[in-house]
Amino acid sequence: MKALEIKGLKKTFRSNFLLKKYHILKGINLSVEKGEIYGFLGPNGAGKTTTIKCVLGLLFADHGEILIDGQPAASMASRRRIGYLPENPFFYDYLSARELLFFSASLFNLAADEVRDRVAALIHQVGLSGHQDLKLRKFSKGMIQRLGLAQALIHNPDFLILDEPFSGLDPIGRKDLRTLILSLREQGKTIFFSSHILQDMEMMVDRVGIILNGSMRRDGKLSELISRSTQYYEIICSHIAEKELAKIQTNFACRDGQYSLTLPSDSDINQVVESIIHNNGRIVAVNPVKMTLEDIFFNEMQPHRPATTGPHRPATTGDSR
Ligand SMILES: Nc1ncnc2c1ncn2[C@@H]1O[C@H](COP(=O)(O)OP(=O)(O)OP(=O)(O)O)[C@@H](O)[C@H]1O
Ligand SMILES: [Mg+2]
Repeated sequence: MKALEIKGLKKTFRSNFLLKKYHILKGINLSVEKGEIYGFLGPNGAGKTTTIKCVLGLLFADHGEILIDGQPAASMASRRRIGYLPENPFFYDYLSARELLFFSASLFNLAADEVRDRVAALIHQVGLSGHQDLKLRKFSKGMIQRLGLAQALIHNPDFLILDEPFSGLDPIGRKDLRTLILSLREQGKTIFFSSHILQDMEMMVDRVGIILNGSMRRDGKLSELISRSTQYYEIICSHIAEKELAKIQTNFACRDGQYSLTLPSDSDINQVVESIIHNNGRIVAVNPVKMTLEDIFFNEMQPHRPATTGPHRPATTGDSR
């Protein structure tokens, strides 16, 4: 069952001057299954926030269809199920964290007891215990970000849309947020978030979409995108003369007295290993090197390269470092 489905989403903005049209979203298609974490990845200006605002009804799309749980995203029922953390949350800074959460809760007609319990639990959950009565003007960016997440969760939504939730968080805050997002998935919630931070994404997303210049470049299960893509094989060896090694394989690099050879496929592995041993070399390891999300992302950033060719890491040709 799909929690979110976006079909053929297009959005243009007009400049004030001469009313020139800018095509910002050029037909976005993506889908998020219920109960999964979807990472929406793209460089600055790619169209992530614009897409999110169209899903939330904060911007009107020019064309396309957006469904939440199979229902039009514009319906009140759909919107009630969503919790939203904006890219740069801005709150009244004369309120305290607790007052802000009570205010947010009042927008959802929740019972007073329920609100008290939820506010206390959320403050604890996002790591703001001890700061609940501090005025927000004294909050750091990371603390505002944590509070933003608490307000997104105040009505216990089953679908969370988080625009750059990791921005402004220190490494501990990022780890806490990853743990929190994973625990929300455990509770059966669906999470859609945008980020530039590839490592955070790789550690937790089920599915990833890469957007570039308003078009989707990749969309699929992270496990499939990555496991499909053994990029190359690496043989690490030692105790062999460099000139002998160069006769076996020109594509190698030297690090800490060991040599790393790069083979584009597994067909030559046995032969290369035998040649190294024959020349008195020692095999230290043979590793298949898989694509990381970063490799996939950088491949997509290069317009004329097919998606799955060649490592992002530069291949080394017989250079000793
Ligand atoms: N209201 C607007 N009027 C005109 N252009 C806009 C408007 N909002 C966004 N844009 C343009 O649309 C493009 C996409 O912006 P968007 O904010 O969606 O990017 P993003 O992927 O969220 O980037 P970032 O990673 O920097 O947050 C940018 O070129 C931006 O200048
Ligand atoms: Mg943005």
